[in-house]
Amino acid sequence: MKTKKKLLNVIYNQDARNILESIGSKTKVTTTITSPPYYDMKDYDSDNQVGYGQTYEDYLKDLKSIFAGVFEITEENGTLWIIIDTFKRNNQVITLPFDLSDKLKEVGWLLQDVIIWKKDKTVPWSTNGFMQRKFEYILFFSKSINYKSNKDSVRVYDTSQLKKWWIKYPERYNPKGKALDEVWEFPIPTQGSWGDEYIRHFCPLPQDMVATMIQISTDENDNILDPFAGSGTVLSQSAYMNRNYIGFELNEKYISMFEEYLEKTFSKYRKEYDQFSQNKDQGDFEKRILNLRSLKFARVLGNNIEKNIDFDNFKIFVVPKEASKIKNKLLRVEYQIIGQIDETIFLNEAKKLINKAPLSKFGIEPIFKFVISKKFNNKDHFGYTKTNTYSYVKNADLNSPKIKVISKICVDLNENDYL
Ligand SMILES: C[S@@+](CC[C@H](N)C(=O)[O-])C[C@H]1O[C@@H](n2cnc3c(N)ncnc32)[C@H](O)[C@@H]1O
Repeated sequence: MKTKKKLLNVIYNQDARNILESIGSKTKVTTTITSPPYYDMKDYDSDNQVGYGQTYEDYLKDLKSIFAGVFEITEENGTLWIIIDTFKRNNQVITLPFDLSDKLKEVGWLLQDVIIWKKDKTVPWSTNGFMQRKFEYILFFSKSINYKSNKDSVRVYDTSQLKKWWIKYPERYNPKGKALDEVWEFPIPTQGSWGDEYIRHFCPLPQDMVATMIQISTDENDNILDPFAGSGTVLSQSAYMNRNYIGFELNEKYISMFEEYLEKTFSKYRKEYDQFSQNKDQGDFEKRILNLRSLKFARVLGNNIEKNIDFDNFKIFVVPKEASKIKNKLLRVEYQIIGQIDETIFLNEAKKLINKAPLSKFGIEPIFKFVISKKFNNKDHFGYTKTNTYSYVKNADLNSPKIKVISKICVDLNENDYL
């Protein structure tokens, strides 16, 4: 019986120049994440290596042809991440990231982003020149203009990074968090975290940085390629995150070290990934922003109604419902208008207000209900004033005219805590 060749979750001890021959054009990858040798900076101790022993022109020519092959086996919506740096020769900077990106454009890759990877330690040759080197480049390419990008899943939802403004202006913040910017800070792995022998052989990429790239450009079960696998950070991280990997590496020694390492670490990091996937914090932040928006919507609406039609003898009770089905709206919220007021006049004015900024920008689909009176208690209900819907009034008399917005939502945020 003929045994079927394994195509996924393999590392080929082969020259990356033979990608197409090795994996055939039928297997497709969603993304490639790789850090090729930086020209002749390092001898990786194998024949036919790219970079070491070559002229700069031959080196670029080989990389161009390798990434042309990668282009061919990449899905239409696929992407390519290259971590690379400049270096000095004859007292001048050689702009390798840009020379390479020109070559890649010639074979069809579209350069989408140039990211600065800020790291706190640098490689030995970085002492050239008079400034300390602190960053490398990440080039992000796509095969077509419609490329896969799960941007929301890597938004920064650590509220301490958002400064205080999200408290007062929740409508300006995406409930899924702040978008990533173009400077990424990831320290390079240090001795101890990987075991000394491992570190001596490689300059491994930071695991979290690779995880971010994987998260942005793939889904579970997608295929990920690294044609210059080295210590195999990209491959092992793919395995932890439930993706398939394909790697190429000329040096056999590195391959056996990678296989051993993956076996030792797989269950620990898979568990971490499973926990991360539940994304608890992001859910919390999203809920907070939507709560703040629901309350502020009532306050802004109430203040404007008062100003425009001179009604002031009412309170608004806020009851968030379910996710909205309307485009650009996130949440349906019931607003119970409590007091003796003319419903038609109120609704006419409210309609005008909710269809223009600022209320049209809140992502809220309001439903109005009119109630003559309602009983509130300080245990289940929280009262807010005309000027503040981000911290409730402590021990408030909820019947007092000062309290304009009431809800079961309890927010008690102090902007000074988030400076
Ligand atoms: C900069 S290192 C990659 C480091 C890797 N990203 C990591 O996290 O450890 C480049 C690797 O490419 C390998 N290499 C060089 N030329 C190659 C070729 N023609 N085909 C496959 N691998 C090659 C080298 O042996 C080296 O391990």
